[in-house]
Parts: sequence; structure tokens; C-alpha cells
Amino acid sequence: MPDKHLVAAVEDIPPGGRKILKVKGREVGVFNLDGEYYALKNVCIHQGARVCLGRVTGTTLPSEVYEFKYGMEGRILRCPWHGWEYDITTGRSLFDEKVGVVKYPVSVEDGQIYITM
Ligand code: FES
Repeated sequence: MPDKHLVAAVEDIPPGGRKILKVKGREVGVFNLDGEYYALKNVCIHQGARVCLGRVTGTTLPSEVYEFKYGMEGRILRCPWHGWEYDITTGRSLFDEKVGVVKYPVSVEDGQIYITM
């Protein structure tokens, strides 16, 4: 049965910020993307790095030959070990959306952030 866990107050994680903490023995990264909160398990599916310590950035988008399109700024989490990229909003990897890090539901109530796991 999933339980809700208090992870932070909204003022603890400003826009663009993150908080990494342990919940039920699992390390989780909670991210604030423009006022929306997302929680990801801190384990990269490639070789198990603490992915939530990676850079939050953007990425190159599909484009025509000789074109360079950059986008999704502030929405991509890049693993610090080998650079695999994940969409923070979904937890899915950019190279194959069938795979990704575990994502937990997040809710905000009375200025408190909760995750369900
Ligand atoms: S462990 Fe994350 S990309 Fe290799």
C-alpha cells in the first residue's frame, strides 16, 4: 500500500532547485521546475550512479541536417557518470522513452511537498 511522505516545505526547494533525501530507505531527488515538483529515485538505470546529483540542463532537439536546435532548458537531468539524459518531468530517458528512472507522484498541500511511494 503506497504511503504519502512529507519531503520538504515549498520554500526549501526554490525554482530550479532540488533536494535529495532518503524516504523508506530509498534515496530520492525532489526537483522544482518553475513551481512544479517532481520526484525521481536517485539511481541511474545505466550503472546505478546517483543520477539526481547530475546537472540540470537542456538538450539538443531533433533537427534537420546542419541545423542545431537547443531546448528543454532546465528540464533535463544528465547523469554525472556517463551523461545519460532524463526528462525530469517524466523520468524517461531521452534516447528511449521505454526506459527511465523511477518517478514518484508528488503533491503539495498547505505549503508542504509530499511524495507517494
Ligand atoms: S551510470 Fe548513469 S549514465 Fe552511466
